[in-house]
Amino acid sequence: MNTISFLAVRLVLVVLLIYPALTPTEELKPIELPKPQTDGGRPLMQVLKDRKSSREYSAEKLPPQVLSNMLWAAFGINRPDSGKRTAPTAMNQQEIDIYVATADGLYLYDAKANILQPVLAEDIRAATGFQPFVKDAPVNLVFVADFSKMRRGSEEQKVFYAATDTGFISQNVYLYCASEGLATVVRGAVDKENLAKVMKLRDDQKVILAQSVGYPKK
Ligand SMILES: Cc1cc2nc3c(=O)[nH]c(=O)nc-3n(C[C@H](O)[C@H](O)[C@H](O)COP(=O)(O)O)c2cc1C
Repeated sequence: MNTISFLAVRLVLVVLLIYPALTPTEELKPIELPKPQTDGGRPLMQVLKDRKSSREYSAEKLPPQVLSNMLWAAFGINRPDSGKRTAPTAMNQQEIDIYVATADGLYLYDAKANILQPVLAEDIRAATGFQPFVKDAPVNLVFVADFSKMRRGSEEQKVFYAATDTGFISQNVYLYCASEGLATVVRGAVDKENLAKVMKLRDDQKVILAQSVGYPKK
């Protein structure tokens, strides 16, 4: 074997050795969301009349425009000058991250860039809740509090604010879904410890609630 083929064989071996160590995110691409459409929707009072929890979903995927609009409604940036959001947060700490679990993988909503950043190239939907419909809903949002962004207050206050801040975001999702004829339910019945492991969260990140979103089952 000459030097060049010897080196080529070694290169192939190195690649084969490294490949299993690559994290799955390296196979999942970021999703650049279309600009959210912020001038549509039905009148608020009609939407409030229709707001409800639904637990039966069609398997149909949500188009990128719908995802973009829904995530913007949930916790997008509505005042670019200050970076403030569609939902309030205690002391404007903006500590809630929205993870988006789909059949293709797990993503993190980057509101500023309007991109879904890849986290895991695995379908973890079943791990986002105990109820059987969860694995079939095309989107399961997971609201995660990043305690490293909560610098002030006692532990008790942080837990309280993380929960209340999530409530506002979840209600925004409910209202968007009611406006667009989508089905949704917020869920506390989640094995949070296991989900945190599956999502590979840091110790200072806490799962607060999950929320399924999709088209209603016909
Ligand atoms: C904090 C919270 C946790 C909830 N957890 C669950 C849950 O784990 N599973 C579920 O099916 N519904 C869950 N729900 C939805 C409630 O059951 C639902 O809001 C309630 O039955 C009233 O129905 P409505 O939303 O249609 O008005 C939860 C709601 C809230 C606010």
